[in-house]
Amino acid sequence: MFGENEKNLSKQKDFWIEFFAGRRDGGHRSSAEEFLSMEAREKLFHLDGGKTLLDFGCGAGELLVYYAPEYEKMIGVDFSASMLDEASKRIRERKCRNISLIQADDKTVWNKLECSFDRITAAGVIQYLTLQEIDNFIFNASSCLNKGGKIVLFDILDPRLYPLWKIGLFSQDASFWNILRKIGFEFKVVLAASLNNRPRDILGFAHNPNAIKKVADKYSFETTFVKSMYYEYKYHAIIEQTKG
Ligand SMILES: C[S@@+](CC[C@H](N)C(=O)[O-])C[C@H]1O[C@@H](n2cnc3c(N)ncnc32)[C@H](O)[C@@H]1O
Repeated sequence: MFGENEKNLSKQKDFWIEFFAGRRDGGHRSSAEEFLSMEAREKLFHLDGGKTLLDFGCGAGELLVYYAPEYEKMIGVDFSASMLDEASKRIRERKCRNISLIQADDKTVWNKLECSFDRITAAGVIQYLTLQEIDNFIFNASSCLNKGGKIVLFDILDPRLYPLWKIGLFSQDASFWNILRKIGFEFKVVLAASLNNRPRDILGFAHNPNAIKKVADKYSFETTFVKSMYYEYKYHAIIEQTKG
């Protein structure tokens, strides 16, 4: 299931650690609170309740603080110290006393958790994991999930739409020449990335929903896919325990 390509992607892991090392925001379409609150509302709709939540790759806590009033206890996890520093400031400013933060990655987090959760979520994070890492993530998450719980993976790059978005097909100034110019630019970026053995794109890897579903099926979950409301080239995967 995981081929040669997987090994190459895995080699690029260090790139992401370095990439997020000094970052202080989650790269949302807008960092205005008005936008973040709308984005969080969409995500709360799909999270659909629960009392305890783990936000993996919480970044600067831009969504986490909006989830806070809806949950009794929440844990934010990220491998970037600068992101956690920012999250911690935001949590203090908003006086969210129900959030704890842990510095860890997709491998180390599971041993640092002392409880299980009704919801395990990750927004804009799964694209920094290879398919094998997503498999491990879902396997480990399933053992930290309470009965009736859900794993909700938000904003996964859609390999069918993302290339079209990148060449500007959805943009208001889409024209033959603009698209051609963008294709030329993308070609140069991809060439430079492969020569330097770096990921092609700072937004991470696109994952086909069928591949995510196959992984979730393996652990007896049911998966529902929904389109992201604010990012036309992303989708969400809602993974839940099969009923009965
Ligand atoms: C695009 S940001 C999104 C942040 C946050 N979820 C949000 O929506 O505002 C991705 C975050 O995932 C974190 N991240 C990426 N790969 C990770 C990994 N393997 N382990 C832990 N954190 C990771 C990065 O440090 C970064 O903070």
